Amino acid sequence: MRIVLLGPPGAGKGTQSARLTKCFEIEHLSTGDILRTEVSKTTELSLVIKKYMDKGDLVPDHLIIDMIKDRVSNTAGFLLDGFPRTLKQAEALDTALEVCNQPLDVVLYFEVNVNELIERLSKRLICQSCFSTYNLITSPPISKGICDSCSGIVAWRTDDKPESIKHRMSVFNDQTFPLIEYYKRRDLLKKIDATGDLDEVFIRIKKVIVG
Ligand code: AP5
Repeated sequence: MRIVLLGPPGAGKGTQSARLTKCFEIEHLSTGDILRTEVSKTTELSLVIKKYMDKGDLVPDHLIIDMIKDRVSNTAGFLLDGFPRTLKQAEALDTALEVCNQPLDVVLYFEVNVNELIERLSKRLICQSCFSTYNLITSPPISKGICDSCSGIVAWRTDDKPESIKHRMSVFNDQTFPLIEYYKRRDLLKKIDATGDLDEVFIRIKKVIVG
């Protein structure tokens, strides 16, 4: 399976990716996680990337396309979480998949209202090592501040400050929202109501994928 997850910040893409990749045994390609790993290395490139991420701006297309191109070509199945985010990235993905003759199966668009998105992001915590996602209210780690999966440190994300959240929402509307129409035209887009219980959302997604 080759799946793309589209949706605004906080829609639950990362949360549901963990379940989907386990269920369908496909690779989870999260550009957010790939970039956070890069930032943790403190190289010249990582300092450039960090500036964009902390502000809530998109990292320039050429950097992210270079990072993801080979990964999608070298795997039988994948779940793309956070890519593409611009029309240029979507076209680059199409080209890379055409070359290896592995077209996308489906693009899932997670819909959640803006007030709930802000509420979720203001309570989100992530593991600094394996990037597992938690929520102070709806899904806290079993031991405070410790990741259930890898015992890493669980903390706030540096781009979950109120001003960055607001900016990321507007970046989504300006630069990523046009992809809804792009994939609708290719008959790949399926909308998912991504509100409610985590298990219920997962069941909705599975129904759309397997029919
Ligand atoms: P990225 O990490 O991809 O962030 P995002 O797309 O803004 O999405 P989020 O991770 O904020 O939200 P999510 O939908 O995964 O929600 P989650 O599952 O965590 O990107 C970060 C930055 O990297 C970007 O701003 C940009 O700078 C850069 N970047 C990444 N990709 C790029 C690209 N392609 N091009 C250029 N730059 C790029 O859930 C959120 C919270 O809600 C959690 O607390 C969770 O527990 C909770 N939750 C989830 N589902 C539910 C539910 N059903 N009910 C209640 N709570 C829920």
